[in-house]
Amino acid sequence: MSEPKISSAAREKRVFKPSAEFQRQANLGSLATYKKLHAESVNSPENFWGRQANEHLIWRKPFSTVLNWKTPHAEWFKGGKLNVAENCVDRHLGTVRENKAAIIFEGEPGDVRTITYKQLSMHVCRLAHVFENMGVKAGDRVAIYLPMVPEAIVAMLACARIGAVHTVIFGGFSAEAIKDRLNDCQAKLVITADGGWRRGKVVELKSVVDRALESTPSVETVIVLKRTANEINMVEGRDIWWHDAWKGGPNQHKAKAFDSEHPLFILYTSGSTGKPKGVLHTSAGYLLGAKLSAHYVFDLKENDRYFCSADIGWITGHSYVVYGLLANGSTVFLYEGAPNQPEPDRFWQMIDRHAITILYTAPTAIRSFMRWGDNYVLRHRLDSLRLLGSVGEPISPEAWRWYHHMIGKDRCPIVDTWWQTETGSILIATLPGAAPLKPGAAGLPFFGVAAKIVDEQGKEVPRGTDGKMVITKPWPSMLRTLWNDDARYQSAYFGDFPGVYFTGDGAKQDKDGYFWISGRVDDVLNISGHRIGTAEVEAALASHPSVAESAAVGRPDSLKGQALVVFVSLKTGVATSDALKEDLRSHIGREIGSFAKPDSVRIAAGLPKTRSGKIMRRILKEIAAGREVKGDTSTLEDFSVIAALQKED
Ligand code: PRX
Repeated sequence: MSEPKISSAAREKRVFKPSAEFQRQANLGSLATYKKLHAESVNSPENFWGRQANEHLIWRKPFSTVLNWKTPHAEWFKGGKLNVAENCVDRHLGTVRENKAAIIFEGEPGDVRTITYKQLSMHVCRLAHVFENMGVKAGDRVAIYLPMVPEAIVAMLACARIGAVHTVIFGGFSAEAIKDRLNDCQAKLVITADGGWRRGKVVELKSVVDRALESTPSVETVIVLKRTANEINMVEGRDIWWHDAWKGGPNQHKAKAFDSEHPLFILYTSGSTGKPKGVLHTSAGYLLGAKLSAHYVFDLKENDRYFCSADIGWITGHSYVVYGLLANGSTVFLYEGAPNQPEPDRFWQMIDRHAITILYTAPTAIRSFMRWGDNYVLRHRLDSLRLLGSVGEPISPEAWRWYHHMIGKDRCPIVDTWWQTETGSILIATLPGAAPLKPGAAGLPFFGVAAKIVDEQGKEVPRGTDGKMVITKPWPSMLRTLWNDDARYQSAYFGDFPGVYFTGDGAKQDKDGYFWISGRVDDVLNISGHRIGTAEVEAALASHPSVAESAAVGRPDSLKGQALVVFVSLKTGVATSDALKEDLRSHIGREIGSFAKPDSVRIAAGLPKTRSGKIMRRILKEIAAGREVKGDTSTLEDFSVIAALQKED
């Protein structure tokens, strides 16, 4: 978890300067240029972003204003019209990129497919017609629940092309979680597959969708991709095979232009309270943020082959598998399955096989690679790699050094990238050719990012002091609101410190201006890179017939970053047993998804509470971590519950 990491990070004093060779070829190769551009981007955002928007996006109608900011609502590039899919695909047609690979796909069983920009354009156009023929209109919501296959990208882009709003649901979510999302956004169409391959087995997707659709009246049609050819149930009049739907359809499509602020997608993410939040991103600002950051942070070059191991069900997949990369005309490598299938060297094998130049992955994956052992890495050359990236949680200096040495062969810079579902694109990252890298630090702010560390009162703290990270100015790819819940948008992000965006993260800034993130300071956990709200887990437990009360907390875990521990008290007359604990774990799996199953379930007669009846989570965190319960316990109602919980497990 955060505390041990931050102290060990603080002990690492080495910095890694960009090599002269890297610097010479970098898209941005000097600290002075970075500083000049960053200063302009925060001091004259309208000049900076106006210029970038004209340079990087293809407009059908030019915008008239760069920014309208009525705290906390932003509108970027008003008056402008564009088509996001055209900006990711069509713009490359008729150029040298037309026959360049847009996507190189490797399925878990080993099947490989290459799709050029020209072919991608034909696929997207074809599916756009299918959608339109089904009556999907601009603004309608389309849910995508697919494995990591090229069709997932095609589906997202086909939505963007006709102005439909996609919501991609990660393949690990349960029927219950899917149902909630479909109902919240009133999806009209669902796109899924018979299954996907994971660890040599079929992960069933269609049967999960079928269960979710038992109570989702808004859904009219389900398009089903054949991937694994396992037996599935097709519902007459509702379900249609992908290959039947687009058979014989035209592969050209005239794209309409949409307003800059036209909604592009909703992505559900966990918050510190209640149900998941539908983060809404819109068109031009989001695309510009994703494109510009990909260009500079990954130092993209025409011949790069870029591999991001994140699932497209998360924001990392949206911005840095799909939109940011394709808008730059890059070649994206897509892998369907598990990193240890058939053996723990699958990534390294694929990097050599496809001559991958950039790898973007998460610290939790890096820790698994370290645990699996160096021998799996040493079997492979990895000499095509030139840049490495990290995202999702703080990377410990130990993991940083291993990644740098074992994977990057001390040659490849590592860009740590801090951002969130809400920020849409990377906000903090040290540009690899511009400034020295500091292992463990997220780095320097990206263009347009005015980040500060403040105390509880919102006052900026001196450099080197821990505090909460806020962003004081709007940026183009920021979320615009929460779907159907603007009040929650205002309170969740602008409620703690009026007028500024609160990230939910604790951090400090060092004397050189680098940000060091310690982790969430709210009740959001980061488990193996999955964001899980403790309130969501507690809500799931509350629907179990045996549970009276529960509290979910995180405890430090050397592999997952954080592990989930739930404390439960049972209804009168219910006896504790191992079978019940297992049932509670399965229940959470059914309500949210198997990735949210707790690592430990502790049952006791009561939970530690204040005299006013509030559960003392701080104490539970200490118990979960196996630490002595310290701090003020004077308001604790009943000391015996602590002893009982410590004995459990
Ligand atoms: O706590 C921060 C952590 O992940 C949170 C955002 O989670 P999510 O919206 O799921 O997006 C993850 C991928 C962008 C943040 O509030 N986080 C993300 N990147 C980093 C990080 N913590 C430290 N260092 C990072 N590079």
